[in-house]
Amino acid sequence: MRRIRMRLAAALLLLPLTAAALLCGCRDASERDAVKIGVSVYKGDDTFISAMMESFLAAAAQFEQETGVRVNISVADAGESQKTQNEQIERFLSLDYDVLCVNLVDRTDAGSIIDRARDADVPVVFFNREPVQEDMLKWDKILYVDSDARESATLEAQIVIDRYNEDPRSIDANGDGIIQYVMLEGERRHQDAIIRTEVSVETLKEAGFLVEKLDGGIANWNRDQAAALTETYLTAYGDKLELIICNNDDMALGAADAVAWLGLDFSNIVGIDGTEKGLAAVREGKMLGTVVMDLPAHARAIFESAYAFATGADPADALEVREDRSVRIPMYIEARKPVE
Ligand code: BGC
Repeated sequence: MRRIRMRLAAALLLLPLTAAALLCGCRDASERDAVKIGVSVYKGDDTFISAMMESFLAAAAQFEQETGVRVNISVADAGESQKTQNEQIERFLSLDYDVLCVNLVDRTDAGSIIDRARDADVPVVFFNREPVQEDMLKWDKILYVDSDARESATLEAQIVIDRYNEDPRSIDANGDGIIQYVMLEGERRHQDAIIRTEVSVETLKEAGFLVEKLDGGIANWNRDQAAALTETYLTAYGDKLELIICNNDDMALGAADAVAWLGLDFSNIVGIDGTEKGLAAVREGKMLGTVVMDLPAHARAIFESAYAFATGADPADALEVREDRSVRIPMYIEARKPVE
């Protein structure tokens, strides 16, 4: 299989791919010259999104190889500007792309993109940054692909619960029957940040734990911001701090960086994503665990929906589409093994 590594730093990349694998229910794709898929991501150097794009291109390349159907994919980096993203969408539409895959900059701002796409009759697959329900109901040729944020948070809490059940003192180090924690949050308006922050703690409480939030802050999914915040927390709370809950792996890695700077022996840090570096940190004992998003499964679902739409088929023939027009990808826990 041809493997394509990509950098998303460029404003617009044109990546013609050649692949195959089939999705049932689609019109005979061999009749087509090539399927054109325009992708716009909110920020190309986001660790999770760039890994997802790599998987997406790999899925498309495999498809080309297996079916002989040509797939042209252009990936545009919106650089965190909704205005830039809207311009990219306009450009794809003016170039007669068959379908759009959009990782919104501002998830509350999908309405105008949907209107423009509907006018041009070009379907849209949104992913990772969820449009509000009102926008999702605007048209039937749109779909949202992601994991369930509640489930990711429940599993993140489960890592802590499992560890506690194996060895209570490894979590409740001071033995006061309360878990003292800090929370590192992603972007303020991202549905994952909002839901993960709330549900992770809710799950611990529902499992019967007493918890005390010592502190917390927004680190915008970012490793450096998380490291800076964690350094202040570790300095302020010292041994009192028993757990660091992070909305994603990059922030968990930042927390682990701060632990290392301060020369401490502390690894009760949990994250979500299952990035390469996140998983390595779990293996190396720097993190307690992470919730692994199955990126190849995400990528396949985005590609399959896009391809189905592009060829006039219904993605629901190949994928399980929920009533709210979403496709949800399962996930799993990867946790540090207890010390014997
Ligand atoms: C991921 C983060 C990522 C963000 C981007 C979240 O689902 O957990 O790592 O930065 O999506 O939108």
